[in-house]
Amino acid sequence: MSIIDSALDNTRETFRRDQVWSFLKEKEVSVDVSHQIILYIEGLSVSFDGFKALNDMNLYINDGELRCLIGANGAGKTTLMDVITGKTQCDEGSVYFGQTHNLLEKDEAEISQLGIGRKFQKPTVFEAHTVLDNLELSLKTNKGVIPTLLARLSSTEILKIDEVLETIGLKDHRMMLAGSLSHGQKQWLEIGMLLVSEPRLLLVDEPVAGMTAQETEHTAELLKSLAGDHTVVVVEHDMEFVRSIAKTVTVLHQGSVLAEGTMDEVQNNAAVREVYLGDES
Ligand SMILES: Nc1ncnc2c1ncn2[C@@H]1O[C@H](COP(=O)(O)OP(=O)(O)O)[C@@H](O)[C@H]1O
Ligand SMILES: [Mg+2]
Repeated sequence: MSIIDSALDNTRETFRRDQVWSFLKEKEVSVDVSHQIILYIEGLSVSFDGFKALNDMNLYINDGELRCLIGANGAGKTTLMDVITGKTQCDEGSVYFGQTHNLLEKDEAEISQLGIGRKFQKPTVFEAHTVLDNLELSLKTNKGVIPTLLARLSSTEILKIDEVLETIGLKDHRMMLAGSLSHGQKQWLEIGMLLVSEPRLLLVDEPVAGMTAQETEHTAELLKSLAGDHTVVVVEHDMEFVRSIAKTVTVLHQGSVLAEGTMDEVQNNAAVREVYLGDES
């Protein structure tokens, strides 16, 4: 091999389109779950004009579990997710991601970079773009500014998007405009948009509201398949759905944890029956 050939080879290797230069790569975030807990919430209080939306709440989420949060309107479910994701400041208490990341010291962008993804109730996909474009855009946006300037996706990223399309059941819809998907499919696409950046913890607010029975069933399978590799916290009102996915259910009431256990345990809990489930059965 001549000197020129080897110089060319080196240059090609340096500027490979399927790779990002190491100095541009994000650092892997390490989350210390050596105690099996990924989210620690202790003594958490939030008040709005003197009203306590969260009141000395204590909650622990295990690494890899699928946890359901239930509770009447106003119980504090959304406020809790707002504090975890840095959207709302708390008055007192602590929130740790693993043993070392103090989430109360971080802003929304930093919390997302740590691997905490949130899906709001209403799908916010880009309707005029294809399913594939939505996933690509999401991957680039989540990675920040520099990778967006490198037009091409790396081979790893292409594989990741393929894997996510498979997971969310939209492989055959990749070239469809997101706007033409059904309500359920849009919700799955939005879950996919979180999954491309490989979050450790997913917070999902009322995923099956407005879905058909079949879509609800599919969503149950999807969320169950995500647990293990991810930790999934789901807020949902549909009790049949909660029963079909949850091993552990946490009942919130007036900003605190009222009960926790299997669906059967919480449904038979006297305090829960009194304040929440009781008036439904
Ligand atoms: N930004 C806010 N300003 C004033 N009150 C709020 C605000 N956000 C939530 N609240 C109040 O806090 C309580 C808890 O709300 P929320 O967390 O949305 O409950 P949930 O999601 O369980 O229905 C409710 O009484 C609500 O009215
Ligand atoms: Mg809410």
